[in-house]
Amino acid sequence: MIETTALIVPAAGSGTRLGMGRPKALIDVGGLALVRRTLMRFVRVSEIVEALVVAPGGFIPDIQQALVGLDWPGCEVRVVAGGDSRQESVRRGIEALLSPVETVCIHDAARPLVSQATIQAVLAAARAMGAAIAASRPADSVREDTADGKTRPLDRSRLWLVETPQAFATDLLRRAHDRARATGVVATDDASLVESCCGQAVRIVESEGLNVKVTRADDLKLVRRILER
Ligand code: CTP
Ligand code: MG
Repeated sequence: MIETTALIVPAAGSGTRLGMGRPKALIDVGGLALVRRTLMRFVRVSEIVEALVVAPGGFIPDIQQALVGLDWPGCEVRVVAGGDSRQESVRRGIEALLSPVETVCIHDAARPLVSQATIQAVLAAARAMGAAIAASRPADSVREDTADGKTRPLDRSRLWLVETPQAFATDLLRRAHDRARATGVVATDDASLVESCCGQAVRIVESEGLNVKVTRADDLKLVRRILER
């Protein structure tokens, strides 16, 4: 039996660091909105039966418009309103789920280059382990601040830069968000939430290919150059 999966795409950020005066998910990349470029990476993932795009308040029609004609057989795509934080946006996505899926995959609208290999590897690891995330090793040397106002080097071979996709057993993800809400726990990604609220270990899958996050103008330039080729 094929296990079913739902996709949640947080796209409700305002793109402050990009500074283009409109939500990042709607920025044009080679004639298509960023959020559409990102969803196109998932349309051939056959176990995804439902996709929820979490939109900035007031921009639901714009996001819907950006997704018109997206060819995704066997998957229902819906747009729901997000919240003030990414965590709240994901929570609203979870609440809006309709299908009784085994696994939920969360992937930021801001990462339009994610490879098929990374998506498949994260989903397979989540099915086996309950929780899995894409991550990569830092390319640069890394230092951290110390209490005396100086800095010291860290061993980058032991560090991971956390990315999305992140995928979880549905019950586990729901429990983590419920507990976080009840206790006021805040985290920048869902893996940390699942770990701190449910004590669940998270399997890391090393990203294959460029999985750039569009954050600043230079990231957008790079992504445009690659996607408009
Ligand atoms: N996100 C969201 N809801 C929020 C904030 C962020 O769904 N309230 C989403 C963004 O749309 C993005 C992802 O979470 O796809 C990662 O966030 P980030 O890259 O920080 O995007 P923005 O918050 O839009 O950018 P900035 O922080 O520069 O404003
Ligand atoms: Mg942000």
